[in-house]
Amino acid sequence: MGKKSPKKPATVAKKPRNEKSSKLFFLAVTPIVVVIGIYIFTVLKSPINPKSSELGLAPVFEGALEPNNHLQAAERLFENEILGPEAPMVYKGNVYAGLHDGRFVKFDLKNNKVETLLRLGQSENCGSYENEPKCGRPLGFRILPDGTMYIIDTYLGLFKFNLNTHEKTKLFGPDLVVEGTNMTLLNDLDIDDEGNIYFSHSSVRWERRNFVYVVLESASDGRLLSYNLHTKKFRVLIDSLDFANGVQLSPNQDYVLVAELTRARIWKYHIKGPLAGEKTIFADNLPGLPDNIRPSKNGGYWIGLGAARKRTAFNIIEWMMTKAFVKKFLAAVLSIDTFPKLAPKYGLAIHIDEKGRIDKTLHDTTGRVIAKVSQVIEDGDNLYFGSYGSPYLGRLNVKNLKL
Ligand SMILES: *[C@@H]1O[C@H](CO)[C@@H](O)[C@H](O)[C@H]1NC(C)=O
Repeated sequence: MGKKSPKKPATVAKKPRNEKSSKLFFLAVTPIVVVIGIYIFTVLKSPINPKSSELGLAPVFEGALEPNNHLQAAERLFENEILGPEAPMVYKGNVYAGLHDGRFVKFDLKNNKVETLLRLGQSENCGSYENEPKCGRPLGFRILPDGTMYIIDTYLGLFKFNLNTHEKTKLFGPDLVVEGTNMTLLNDLDIDDEGNIYFSHSSVRWERRNFVYVVLESASDGRLLSYNLHTKKFRVLIDSLDFANGVQLSPNQDYVLVAELTRARIWKYHIKGPLAGEKTIFADNLPGLPDNIRPSKNGGYWIGLGAARKRTAFNIIEWMMTKAFVKKFLAAVLSIDTFPKLAPKYGLAIHIDEKGRIDKTLHDTTGRVIAKVSQVIEDGDNLYFGSYGSPYLGRLNVKNLKL
């Protein structure tokens, strides 16, 4: 008994030492376990396999980029009757566009009506993420003077459609393999006088409804191709593009432009002249991510910028784009529709001259009236603004604006 009692304090004295070292052990190990846990979770859960993408410093909004809020004077046509009139075009006085729910429509501006002209996919239960591939989504189209239209439905392929007879022919689908890869996310097109269709596909892996992952992944698997209607031959003109987007031929068809959205730049592919067959940069470090390019009346091009890039002390999106693991982690924890909400609310369209210099810009500095601009077209004194996600067609009378 007497021997046992002195032992007791000894064991009591030992305990705190054990607690101390185990506390230290947990302090050291916990962060390591957490980091390994996040790593494993991210690798297992993330849908994307991104590369870092370096854009350099975003432009300062001065000179031609000086914010002006002209876009806040625009009207919203057919508000809440439509969604995402991506690529509006004027043909014989009427405006046409493809919509988010898969319809291709004619806007009857006199009677304020939307008329469905064409649907390439199913017509039931359209407008949801789940059904988008079945319903289709027309993205780019061109109408020839005789009413023949060439139209890209990103899910269903390239079609020829006659606006007068409604006769429809499929030319090819996005599953077609050209030089080793298919053409997932077919995007925009233009056509020359010799029957060459110039078109872009933005990704090999992701469909349009997952376009955010194309942006985040920076996989550089987009391309500019041509397809000849007579020989039925394809050619890859530019490959390794980070989200190839809008396509536009020059007025005399000696070059074709293609927007590389995620790199904020526009390439020029030379069709004729001393540089024929080569590509050069047409415009670089744009103040936003370029979507469609369309010609303007007095030379040059209008370009819709899907999101603005403005130099600020710290730009979280531009920073994030340079960190592959951050993108991978965020794609694991956030739902895909969270990302567009992170972008600053800003509406922006730019005009570029034939040398590739920005000479006019139209802003909505809060994105209150016009945002998510995908295309700008000119018709008389009006500019129309397409959008990949806005519930209206924008229109701005520029007669009295000093542009
Ligand atoms: C294109 O190829 C990718 C990768 O092999 C595949 O995941 C995708 O489903 C294909 N897309 C089409 C439209 O066939």
